[in-house]
Amino acid sequence: MSGLCNEKLIYKNLVNGEWVESASGNLITINSPADGSLIGKIQANTKEEVDNVIALSKVNQKKWAKIPIYEKATILYKAASLLEERAEAISDILMMEISKDKKSSLSEVRRTADFLRFTADAGKGIEGLAISGENFPGGSRNKMSYVKRVPLGTVLAISPFNYPINLSASKIAPALMGGNTVILKPATQGSISALYLVEAFQDAGVPNGVINTVTGKGSEIGDYIVAHDGIDFINFTGSTEVGQHISRLAHMTPLLLELGGKDAAIVLEDADLEFAAKNIVEGAFSYSGQRCTAVKRILTTDSVADKLVKLLKPLVEGLTVGDPRDNSTITPLIDSKSADFAQVLIDDALSKGATLVTGNKREANLVYPTLIDNVTEDMEIAWKEPFSPILPIIRVRSIDHAIEIANESEYGLQSAVFTNDINQAFYVADRLEVGTVQINNKTERGPDHFPFLGVKASGMGTQGVRYSIEAMTRHKAITINLFEQ
Ligand code: NAP
Ligand code: G3P
Repeated sequence: MSGLCNEKLIYKNLVNGEWVESASGNLITINSPADGSLIGKIQANTKEEVDNVIALSKVNQKKWAKIPIYEKATILYKAASLLEERAEAISDILMMEISKDKKSSLSEVRRTADFLRFTADAGKGIEGLAISGENFPGGSRNKMSYVKRVPLGTVLAISPFNYPINLSASKIAPALMGGNTVILKPATQGSISALYLVEAFQDAGVPNGVINTVTGKGSEIGDYIVAHDGIDFINFTGSTEVGQHISRLAHMTPLLLELGGKDAAIVLEDADLEFAAKNIVEGAFSYSGQRCTAVKRILTTDSVADKLVKLLKPLVEGLTVGDPRDNSTITPLIDSKSADFAQVLIDDALSKGATLVTGNKREANLVYPTLIDNVTEDMEIAWKEPFSPILPIIRVRSIDHAIEIANESEYGLQSAVFTNDINQAFYVADRLEVGTVQINNKTERGPDHFPFLGVKASGMGTQGVRYSIEAMTRHKAITINLFEQ
């Protein structure tokens, strides 16, 4: 067994290249949401330990920044290979820790290996720029600005439970290529999977102290680390509530925030409805709807809705429900609080006159896929992010009405429009207040080198390989002044 955990399944943190236990002696037990089994115990770090890790990160950043980019890239290639070699074992842990079906768990690990390789390549492509003074009125060719990108320093990476490996790596790898050190604070439920990712980086040759980890409940240790003077950049993915809280604490520390969403699928009258129905069901229900980019509402007119519901119903009822080990699409939600919230949203909608098409069944934190028609604007499910397998249909009067309702949301992550008319597609896409519009596809982040961003309450800043490297580096300009020739 490697140093990251002992025979009692007590997991440690990586601090300056060593796997260490917290001096607090406090452990947090991680049980599987799928069957309650013990996954392991993680450390609850103290404020003093946070201070220590930040101090170490700052010292090591100077050394890491000096390592040539191609050497940094070589380490990332190695980490990618190790992840692939370990994909089966890591995905088994991921599957049970966050109750994600085996196929999706495996694909998360493999997608992350691809992400590391692509990030290494993109990092090698980052170049400087020389700007001649003569281009500006009154300037001179004896003056030149040499502009390069330099690291920000120590990046605090905070990842959510739903992609503990991919959304940790998509912060760590670009930060490293940019010459930063990283402190990873993973979601408590998801920490163990994230520690295996960090182990792969360490085994690949990331020097001691370049990646350090802090574990413990965000509600207890989060504010302290976020507000710490030693943090130079915060790269956060999680809920809007916590993201907004962090942005208030961060003072002048720059932030990249990827937060919640309420992605709409707008289905126009000329759309291929069979294709749209299949695509929307995949987008809404994979990993039980626990994705920021899940389709979280359908907006369509009466004439389309009647046909669409007939197509959606059998597809939703055909989804497999049960254990992640059986590759079920719908698995127990991350905790009972999430399932309680899902039930509140369903009950609220039904009590206000919405039509239950299928679902509204629950066993502990397993919520069956639920399709609700005739959802109106006074219902909570019209606006709230369920993060569970619930899909509401809101019937609209027209395309403009669909756009209006889509934009009334506090969120602005993605939206989809289904139509065979490219002019209508652009009419809708141009008017939606979101980071990305998908034409004839479910909302989704990938491929991971595309820009991924949310507007309004869905976030600030842009991620996606090159964009993430740029976000975690800054320009440095050196102006050269030649003597008059
Ligand atoms: P969350 O409750 O906001 O937690 C996210 C992370 O923040 C966790 O690591 C959590 O640690 C930590 N945290 C909590 N309180 C903190 C504090 N005061 N200071 C610093 N860190 C703190 O979100 P989640 O339940 O894990 O994930 C679901 C949410 O994430 C959804 O809203 C979803 O839409 C969003 N999400 C967005 C994207 C995107 O790219 N836009 C992607 C994935 C998920 P603990 O676990 O210890 O509390
Ligand atoms: O919610 C996680 C976010 O990164 C979306 O990824 O691939 O599920 O669209 P994906």
